[in-house]
Amino acid sequence: MSTTGEFIEPAATPLALLLLGQESDPFSERGVDCPGDLPAPSDPDLVARGRAAKAALGDRVFVLGHHYQRDEVIEFADVTGDSFKLAREAAARPDSEYIVFCGVHFMAESADILTSADQTVILPDLAAGCSMADMAAIEQVEACWRELEAAGVAQGTVPVTYMNSSAAIKAFTGRHGGTVCTSSNAKASLEWAFSRGERVLFMPDQHLGRNTAVLDLGLSLDDCVVYHPHRPRGGLSEAQLRQAKVILWRGHCSVHGRFTAESVADVRARIPGVNVLVHPECQHEVVLAADYVGSTEHIITTLDAAEPGSAWAIGTELNLVRRLALAHPDKQIVFLDRTVCYCSTMNRIDLPHLVWALESLVEGRVVNQITVTPDDAHFARVALDQMLALPGVAAPTRD
Ligand code: 13P
Ligand code: SF4
Repeated sequence: MSTTGEFIEPAATPLALLLLGQESDPFSERGVDCPGDLPAPSDPDLVARGRAAKAALGDRVFVLGHHYQRDEVIEFADVTGDSFKLAREAAARPDSEYIVFCGVHFMAESADILTSADQTVILPDLAAGCSMADMAAIEQVEACWRELEAAGVAQGTVPVTYMNSSAAIKAFTGRHGGTVCTSSNAKASLEWAFSRGERVLFMPDQHLGRNTAVLDLGLSLDDCVVYHPHRPRGGLSEAQLRQAKVILWRGHCSVHGRFTAESVADVRARIPGVNVLVHPECQHEVVLAADYVGSTEHIITTLDAAEPGSAWAIGTELNLVRRLALAHPDKQIVFLDRTVCYCSTMNRIDLPHLVWALESLVEGRVVNQITVTPDDAHFARVALDQMLALPGVAAPTRD
C-alpha cells in the first residue's frame, strides 16, 4: 500500500498498450506508420540533441505538451495543458513559425484551425491518433443525419461534438448550427444546445454525454438513447429517436472506459477515507461511485488545493497521475485501477520522434505537418468559436 510521498506503479497487463497496426490508413487516426529516419531510442545523446535543436530554432518553434504525455516529452514542452488549453495556447502564439504538438491528431488539427495560414503545426508521430475520435467517421455522421432527417427529427436536433473528434466532424457541427465542447464546458455546451433545439446529437463520447446530461442537466437515463453507427438508424426506432432528448453516439475512450465500479470499491477497501476523483469520460456507474468528477485541468487544480495528508485515487491517464503523485509528496495519490492504463496513442510521441521532428526543422525540412482543408477549417472554426463564446471559457487571443 502506498503512503504519502510514494507512488506505486500499477501492475502491467498483457494489453497495457493497445495494439497498433503498421499500415498507412488515411481514414484512421490509429495504426498509421510514421515514415522517417528516426534516431535510435537507445541513443544516450537524445536529450542533448533535442535541446540543441530546440535552442537552434529559438522563438521560431513552440512546443505544446498534453498532460497525458510521457515525462521525457513533457520536459521539452513550453507549455502543458488539456486539449482546450493547448488549443488556446496555439492560437496565442502568432509569432511562432512552427507549433510542435505533443498530443494527438485531433488536437493538432484544432491547433491548425486556430493558427494563421503561415504557421505550421507538426505532430511528431502520425500514429498518435485517438481511438475515440476514430469511432465516429464523417461518413457515418452524415449518414446518421440523413436518418434523422428521414425520421423527421433532424430539425430541432442540435449537434454537439466533443473536442476529441476529427476536424471534419467539427465542421459538420458548424454547418448544422451546433458547437464543440470539452470536458470542462460540456454542461454549458449542452445548455446552449437546448436553448436552440429540443434534442442533442452528442458525439463521439457516450460517457461524457450521458454524465453531463444526467448529472449536470438533471435529465434521466431514459431521456438518452445510444446511436450505434454500424446498425441501420443506429439500431433505434423512429419513435425512440423522436422521444430522445439526447442521442449519444456509441463511442468511448479506451483508456478511461477501463475503470469500473469495482475499481472504486477496491480502492475504498484498500485506503479508508480515500477521495475518488475521476474524469467524465469514465462510465456512468464509475462516476456515480466516485466522490468527484472533473476534467483534466479540474483534477490538477483539485489536487493542488487538497489538504496535506489527504488520500486520493485518480481515474485518468497514468502519466498524469504519476506526475501528480510526485508533485504532491505531502498527499497520498494513487491510480484508481490496479493495472496500467496508459493512452497508447498519446505514448506514441516519444523522444526519438520529437528529436527527429525538431532536427528536421533545423535542417529546413517540415515533417508530419497537420493541415485541415480550408472548407473544413472554416466551418470547424465556426463551431469552435461558438464554444469559445460560452460562459466560463476564455476566448483565444490571435491576430
Ligand atoms: P482533456 O484534454 O480535455 O482533459 O481530455 C481528456 C482526453 O482524453 C484527451 O484526449
Ligand atoms: Fe483518445 Fe482516450 Fe487517448 Fe484521450 S485518453 S487521446 S480520448 S484514447
